[in-house]
Amino acid sequence: MTRATVKSSVASLAVRTSTPSALNEASRERIVASLNERLAEGVDLHSQVKVAHWNVKGATFPTLHPLLDTFAAQVAQWNDELAERAVILGGTACGTARIAARSSRLAELPVEVQRDVELAELLIARFDAYSEGLRDTRLMAEESGDVDTADLLTGILQQHEKNGWFLRATLGV
Ligand SMILES: [Fe+2]
Repeated sequence: MTRATVKSSVASLAVRTSTPSALNEASRERIVASLNERLAEGVDLHSQVKVAHWNVKGATFPTLHPLLDTFAAQVAQWNDELAERAVILGGTACGTARIAARSSRLAELPVEVQRDVELAELLIARFDAYSEGLRDTRLMAEESGDVDTADLLTGILQQHEKNGWFLRATLGV
């Protein structure tokens, strides 16, 4: 199945008419599809951060090993919030590992890279790609008048950018 097919099959799931949201159906459909893209990337990112937590080696191991676990727990929490927002808007949360593998825009983490500095650099690139998606969805929510989804994404971005700073500072970059 191609990525385009997966994306359209996810996006084509109709939103329910009974929802607490006051937004129109077309807006909710668009935002739900975009939230599902972020959910797929979040599920992907969570697994990559856990893999880094398990495999990391080097002088910064005592700092990075627990730090990466804290990041993973936060990403899991954001996934929960993004998924629930999609359902609140009348949508379906499409967050299985298989959907994530097919539709995430993040590059795969090469598991053979385990040295702390190289591994952290790969993670920084993936953190930045995840941020880009969060900003895209926030912009779409803002343009659709969905202040609440935009607020949720701003909260996630603030914490996620802070984590990106921690990672950079740990490396001294
Ligand atoms: Fe652990």
